[in-house]
Amino acid sequence: MGKVHVLDHPLIQHKLTYIRDKHTGTKEFRELVDEVAMLMAFEITRNLPLQEKTTETPVMESTTNVLAGKKIGLIPILRAGLGMVDGMLKLIPAARVGHVGLYRDPETLTPHEYYIKLPSDIEERELIVIDPMLATGGSANDAIHSLKKRGAKQIRLMCLVAAPEGVEVIQNEHPDVDIFLAALDERLNEHGYIIPGLGDAGDRLYGTK
Ligand code: PRP
Ligand code: URA
Repeated sequence: MGKVHVLDHPLIQHKLTYIRDKHTGTKEFRELVDEVAMLMAFEITRNLPLQEKTTETPVMESTTNVLAGKKIGLIPILRAGLGMVDGMLKLIPAARVGHVGLYRDPETLTPHEYYIKLPSDIEERELIVIDPMLATGGSANDAIHSLKKRGAKQIRLMCLVAAPEGVEVIQNEHPDVDIFLAALDERLNEHGYIIPGLGDAGDRLYGTK
């Protein structure tokens, strides 16, 4: 079963509290999501493989480590996932970015895919699926199925806030996928919103309603 990693770095937790606050306006919300995404990128890449490299320092020859060339692909789920991409690219600037467009029907809560565009070599990449919210899990589940159908082999899921219901869906459907969260919340309400959550992530990022 995939592991759930709650990233409890104090800076992530501090900024998430202000992201949750309903008084935080669009500009600040966007900035905070960007900052948290960058901090989460630091944690999620912690176990990337290294290889030795010999260089000449001004003093002597030295053998130290560099990344072992593992290629990364970021896969934001549109639209809210886009809000986390730039923050991640600050730490992983060479990553390729694929997009999966999904919206959740507000009545049935089922996801509908409307767009997909991926790097051509996804089967060779470590993919990080990005979405601020993991609620019923329907959207992330669909996105991951879509990626696997197209050849993806290694996938991690990164979200700001998750409900236990969504985590369970991903763990059951995709036991090979580790989940990285800033917070695991209490539950979903009757409208499929995460409690306490942060409201509608897409609307708060883009100032829509
Ligand atoms: C939100 C969110 C996730 C999804 C989570 O997107 O960004 O993609 O809902 O819910 P689920 O786990 O129950 O599927 P939404 O469908 O509102 O689209 P948006 O990003 O365009 O606002
Ligand atoms: N999508 C959101 O944006 N927020 C929630 O709480 C649930 C789904």
